[in-house]
Amino acid sequence: MATILGMDEQAILAAADTLAQGKLVAIPTETVYGLAADATNGSAVAGIFEAKGRPHFNPLICHVSDVAMAERYAEIDPVSRQLINAFWPGPLTLVLPLKPDCGIHPLVAAGLDTIALRMPRGVAGKIIAALDRPLAAPSANTSGKISGTNALSVEGDLGSKIAMILDAGPSEVGLESTIVKVDGDTILMLRPGGLPAEEIEAVIGRKLGRIDQRAAIQAPGMMASHYAPSAAMRLNVHDVMAGEALLAFGPHRANGYSKAAAILNLSETGSLHEAATNLFDFMKRLDAVDCTMIAVEPIPFNGLGEAINDRLVRAAAPRSLSVAEMEQIK
Ligand code: TXA
Ligand code: MG
Repeated sequence: MATILGMDEQAILAAADTLAQGKLVAIPTETVYGLAADATNGSAVAGIFEAKGRPHFNPLICHVSDVAMAERYAEIDPVSRQLINAFWPGPLTLVLPLKPDCGIHPLVAAGLDTIALRMPRGVAGKIIAALDRPLAAPSANTSGKISGTNALSVEGDLGSKIAMILDAGPSEVGLESTIVKVDGDTILMLRPGGLPAEEIEAVIGRKLGRIDQRAAIQAPGMMASHYAPSAAMRLNVHDVMAGEALLAFGPHRANGYSKAAAILNLSETGSLHEAATNLFDFMKRLDAVDCTMIAVEPIPFNGLGEAINDRLVRAAAPRSLSVAEMEQIK
């Protein structure tokens, strides 16, 4: 059972303290309750995927307490700033270029070089300000279940898996935030949500571009924004070939591993949790190595292993496959 607290000053400090320890706290926002973790702590962020039982590593929204905090982590273009001025705090998430080495763990953005940021209304902002670090937070519900919009439903769904729930009554909006990405001249709505498109269009003085939601939902890994290394990848490798970079897993050694151009081990001890925190960072690092191929040792499919394998399959897929073909190999 998670501790359920109200939203007074003491509760806010207790939540910030629990988050600082790398634990998960369900926090109220105006859209839905969020399953929050310190976005700079990879192990805590991996815990989000574990608790939700998510089979994929979707990039997560990162919550900030003010614009100054957003500027620590992302480059803000003029149109995004206009939207921030108009709608923050509120149910608008902006996808922005991530500042390199800014401290947000790569698992939050699923290895992308962009970050989805939003400044929530209400008590969430006070917790983030007290922690002085951004919070990664998807909706507080098990994968596939309805988003939690009150403390009791969050307790029923996730209570045994998280440390604490802050109860601020039912969510004001009840629907996730609207996600917008400014890309040069194109201003795309990536997800319709709690802020109506018309309100955004009134501020920017033009229509939002839309993406085909059905295609995006059918194959989220096909979104152009999903990370894939430029090197080719071989999965479930037991025998390493000369010149390959090896993404290893566990204490055993693959045959011929000494011939590898480089080796990074996702987890020497075979911890899937640790592997999840290293996955995107290590893929990027091996991609920077001069190698013919990135060979990946087998990763078990249990627990976070399913999400890790999902991402590896997507990263390894030839880039020219159609959405339908991608679905076949998923
Ligand atoms: O209302 C909300 O937005 C709630 C509350 C808790 O704040 N949060 C929420 O977070 O819905 P989350 O993490 O479940 O939203 C993830 C979605 C992804 O599925 C993806 O569509 C989009 O945000 N996203 C995140 N990072 C992205 C990125 N770098 N590029 C494109 N889309 C991104
Ligand atoms: Mg959700």
